[in-house]
Amino acid sequence: MTSSNDIRATFLDYFARNGHAVVESSPLVPRNDPTLMFANSGMVQFKNVFTGQERRPYVRATTAQKCVRAGGKHNDLDNVGYTARHHTFFEMLGNFSFGDYFKEQAIAYAWELLTKDFTLPKDRLLVTVFSEDEDAAAYWKRVAGLPDSRIIRIPTSDNFWRMGDTGPCGPCSEIFFDHGETIPGGPPGSADEDGDRFVEIWNLVFMQFEEGPPGTRVPLPRPSIDTGMGLERFAAILQGKHDNYDTDTLRALILASAEATGTDPDGRWRISHRVVADHLRAGAFLIADGVLPSNEGRGYVLRRILRRAMRHAHMMGSREPLLHRLVPALVRQMGAAYPELVRAEPLITETLKLEETRFRSLLERGLHLLGDETARLGEGGTLPGDVAFRLYDTYGFPLDLTQDALRSEGRAVDVAGFEAAMAEQRRRARAAWAGSGEAATESLWFDVKEQVGATEFLGYTTETAEAEILALVMDGKLVESAPVGAEVAVVLNQTPFYAESGGQVGDAGLISAGEACRIVVRDTQKKLGDVFVHLGTVAHGEARPGLAVQAEVDHRRRGSIRAHHSATHLLHEALRRRLGPHVSQKGSLNAPDRLRFDVSQPTPMAATDLAWVEAEVNTRIRENAEVVTRLMTPEAAVEAGAMALFGEKYGEEVRVVGMGHDPAAAEKHGVYSLELCGGTHVRRTGDIGLFKIVSEGAVAAGVRRVEAVTGEAALALVEAAEQRLQDTAAALRVPPAEVPARVAALLEDRRKLEREVAELRKKLATGGGAAEVEQLAGLRVALRNLGEIPARDLKGVAEAILKGGTADLAALVSTAEGKASIVVAVGEAARGRADAVALVRAASAAVGGKGGGGRPDMAQAGGPEAEKADAALAAVRDLLTAA
Ligand code: ALA
Repeated sequence: MTSSNDIRATFLDYFARNGHAVVESSPLVPRNDPTLMFANSGMVQFKNVFTGQERRPYVRATTAQKCVRAGGKHNDLDNVGYTARHHTFFEMLGNFSFGDYFKEQAIAYAWELLTKDFTLPKDRLLVTVFSEDEDAAAYWKRVAGLPDSRIIRIPTSDNFWRMGDTGPCGPCSEIFFDHGETIPGGPPGSADEDGDRFVEIWNLVFMQFEEGPPGTRVPLPRPSIDTGMGLERFAAILQGKHDNYDTDTLRALILASAEATGTDPDGRWRISHRVVADHLRAGAFLIADGVLPSNEGRGYVLRRILRRAMRHAHMMGSREPLLHRLVPALVRQMGAAYPELVRAEPLITETLKLEETRFRSLLERGLHLLGDETARLGEGGTLPGDVAFRLYDTYGFPLDLTQDALRSEGRAVDVAGFEAAMAEQRRRARAAWAGSGEAATESLWFDVKEQVGATEFLGYTTETAEAEILALVMDGKLVESAPVGAEVAVVLNQTPFYAESGGQVGDAGLISAGEACRIVVRDTQKKLGDVFVHLGTVAHGEARPGLAVQAEVDHRRRGSIRAHHSATHLLHEALRRRLGPHVSQKGSLNAPDRLRFDVSQPTPMAATDLAWVEAEVNTRIRENAEVVTRLMTPEAAVEAGAMALFGEKYGEEVRVVGMGHDPAAAEKHGVYSLELCGGTHVRRTGDIGLFKIVSEGAVAAGVRRVEAVTGEAALALVEAAEQRLQDTAAALRVPPAEVPARVAALLEDRRKLEREVAELRKKLATGGGAAEVEQLAGLRVALRNLGEIPARDLKGVAEAILKGGTADLAALVSTAEGKASIVVAVGEAARGRADAVALVRAASAAVGGKGGGGRPDMAQAGGPEAEKADAALAAVRDLLTAA
């Protein structure tokens, strides 16, 4: 038997031999398409290459592309399990020519590969062509030798392939395999073409046009080729099966499901096993590509797929969550071809287990309610919409799960009623909000949210994505157009821009549509929980809803924000380790140029603590450990040892970010830092680069703030410090290493000099002992204006004069620093005859001062009018002689 893995390899090898680059499957979440939910065919990743917008280093390529058709335009979910060829996940093999070869060569390759390499009998093959495409019909005749009877002309859109409403498109030619007369069914185009006898195996699309807004179609710059072969259905043919679910890969998963549930793979639960096998593949591959279950957008499609499978697991009587137990079987089958599956295996297992564990109790109660409700309905009666809504709202039953559950009873759901109930709930939510007082500003956003729904955030995995402008707000009003210069708030269907939350600032960047429009985004904010609003200015062209745009985050800025945010986690843990577990987060800011982290801590942090913390964070950075994000319930996260913020309201699921290793941290399973966090982070701690604390201080009673920088900002800080050191060293004329010793020596010199200066001044003032002295009222009085001598030296000088024995009383004035300072000292001999306080007051009055004070033997005062210093001395003289 030719295994699916062999078929894939043979296909890729064949085209590699024929000059095609073997290109990896793109992720399931398209980065280059605003309208597409998931990659749904091989050409999606090449869309812009076909239109000439993008160039690649090759003109021929071949891929095995992961595809999901669930949600959005191509939705096969409802049929999976019940038919032979519907899947939510499948692989598409394809070859592509970007303006290189065209129809004839594409037909020749396909024919050779099918009939030579895969040795399919020629007489079992027939083809369709678009009825207007005479060229294709002629090539099939010439290259493959097919008779007219086996070239069927189809006039309908079946033979004109479109990726979606817009994008590259063209006529196509499909190759069919005839399973033989024993199988019912007619050839394509016939009344019973839907039978299983003739199965389409390969679609060759002759890409010739690009479809724009309705009714506009322009030729592509160069005609190209896009082909698609469903691996599952082709494997069925090569493996002699009529049902894709009987091929090796899916059969292995069905057997694993049967074994895990102890049931017959082909018996009563045949459909359930098929659902489980298919949905397991879709779920695992979506999780590996970064989609996690949620209530919005792609995450909700994933949740719908998983919950649908989980109901089937539950029906089969599986007591424990089932899906995660089948992951090893899937990895065995497909891990070699898709290494991302191996890499993400723990995440897949954990996510599936969490989702199924959480959903189980709801599922049981919901099914109970459903049973009660259907019992009340007559045979085949439709389930009322409000019941389906209650199942959705209270028990987490996606609508398609309810529909699937009722399918075997031949019942339907009143979908219009379901939607009416949903609308009513939205109306109530809005009314409740209106009562909260913020109605005026927020009412606009309710309108927006009702119209366009939640924004899907892609920014955990990408910083660039295509998107569509869904709403445009200018001056507080929804508008249909915004001109150059307008300040706008832009809402997209999906965005890589992070909206400010959890301390991380909103992203800035560019939203553009080629020459038509460019919006410079300076900030991103969230409204009503999940509407992302890009705030910016129309810098070029005109913005309007409906425009397909490229949304590109300012990568450098986001890179710095990421580094600061991840460093904050390491800082938090390091502070706890150094200061104690009382340290908890009180606030944080993660900006492109700095981080700010407030923590509960009663006393200032010592310099030694800060040095330890800084070194610790840098050690963790150099460890370069992987940063691992997992999705958990808040309870499971706290159980796993994650730090949660007290009082913070968390959703049903939280992201838990782990960094670094610490075998001793048993409560956190050996992870160094583990926090609940919705922010964006570096891949490895080494990406932070460098961490420097800038300051530490108080913000409120019991709360300290640490400010720090990382990466480039930290480097700039270090460089600035180094420059200052260089400048200092140059000024001192020593090498930088000798600066501290040199500065210490200079300080010592200076102290010595100061002492000497003081001594000399004293000597000078006391006149070496023979100073001039006046006789006043029988006392020897020294009255001196000492000029610029520091005021603090006056007392010492006065004492020295009295001690010298040449005077009984000294009155001294200094005019240093532009003011007059006065000291009066009264020696033993003059005690009782002169009062220092009275004298200093008189002196002070002469220089515009007020008062003064001290003891009768030593008093000091001052006044602003330094130029009247001599008048102060005269006042002392007058008072003494008057007495
Ligand atoms: N893009 C083409 C298809 O999906 C080949 O059928």
